[in-house]
Amino acid sequence: MAAPADSFEFLRTGKKLRNRAVVAAMTNKQSNEDGSLSDEEINWLLRRADGGFGIVTTAASHVVREGKGWDGEMGVWGDHQLQGLTRLAKGIRERGAVSLGQIFHGGMRCPQGLTGVQPVSASVNPTSDSDTGETRALEDSEIEELVDAFAAAAARCEKAGFDGVEIHGAHGYLICQFLGLQTNRREDRWGGSLENRARFLLNIIERIRQVTSEDFLLGVRISPEYNNIGVMLEDSLDLVDMLVKSGIDYLHISCWDCFTPPTHYDDPRMLTEIFAERLANRLPMISCGAVWSTAQAQQVMDQGADLVAVARSAIGHADWASNLGDLDYDPQRPPFTTAHLESQGLSPKFVEYMRAWKGFIA
Ligand SMILES: Cc1cc2nc3c(=O)[nH]c(=O)nc-3n(C[C@H](O)[C@H](O)[C@H](O)COP(=O)(O)O)c2cc1C
Repeated sequence: MAAPADSFEFLRTGKKLRNRAVVAAMTNKQSNEDGSLSDEEINWLLRRADGGFGIVTTAASHVVREGKGWDGEMGVWGDHQLQGLTRLAKGIRERGAVSLGQIFHGGMRCPQGLTGVQPVSASVNPTSDSDTGETRALEDSEIEELVDAFAAAAARCEKAGFDGVEIHGAHGYLICQFLGLQTNRREDRWGGSLENRARFLLNIIERIRQVTSEDFLLGVRISPEYNNIGVMLEDSLDLVDMLVKSGIDYLHISCWDCFTPPTHYDDPRMLTEIFAERLANRLPMISCGAVWSTAQAQQVMDQGADLVAVARSAIGHADWASNLGDLDYDPQRPPFTTAHLESQGLSPKFVEYMRAWKGFIA
């Protein structure tokens, strides 16, 4: 059985990781108004590459200007963003880690106050922002344009020197809104059956493959369950078979807590075990959620994950991954002091944002 400190190779591309530890995508609100990276955001990620992680993933980054969900969000939609992206990708590589850009569109969670336009979604849906009321349903041609925008963003990441991209299909954003039975009530080829609801995601994958090189990594992050918009576990398991056929390099499941069973599914096992069974080693799997100690990382690998992603542990401990050879490593958990977080490379702006995460800051 593999251990968290063991190396790993993505077979199709031959890209190698020094260990099984992944910095999960984390929004940190430090990007400039035009979506370009700030020095603070680059520094925070480079500290994690210095800290020994195998993969460093960027924050969720919008692929079109109107796909922005919040202030300070990273963007990958324009060439003015290339300079910062290039600095980040080069820095991560120089530090021995593999870099992934996480690409997304916020859909119904893009406030009009921020983008200046009515938000869009698969269907007419309520928005997160009470001023805006409802979304507009995307036209067929607009969906095709967005598929192209995702591909252009991936190509931009490759041009900047990233090793790959992770398509963010989780957490209720646009791709997830297409997958969700409640947010996607379309009657055309983009709605109805799972095959139709997954078409947006599968077309994005296909188009990215057409515009990036053979050795560019392509992964997909999903929420196994996102019940309040109708993403059900049964569907997510069937989606796994479609993703295997699509030719991606890995599947990333966002569990939030790897040590509790699913909520709307009659199976006492953990999500990672259930997905590992369905995958049957056809694709590498990253799992993520509530991992702090080496023992917990090992447990998630024993459940069937090939790689273990961490978010809050990586915020609290820049060098988390360097400790995975120590089987007793069990670092401090929240609440953290501001001084501690600043010592781990968080800017005051990022620390301020973390106050929104209940119990994270003392
Ligand atoms: C500050 C913060 C920002 C996050 N931003 C993103 C994001 O941009 N994209 C994403 O897929 N998940 C995001 N997440 C979710 C994490 O990637 C991860 O799935 C979740 O925090 C559970 O892992 P953890 O228990 O190791 O923190 C964020 C989490 C945190 C704490």
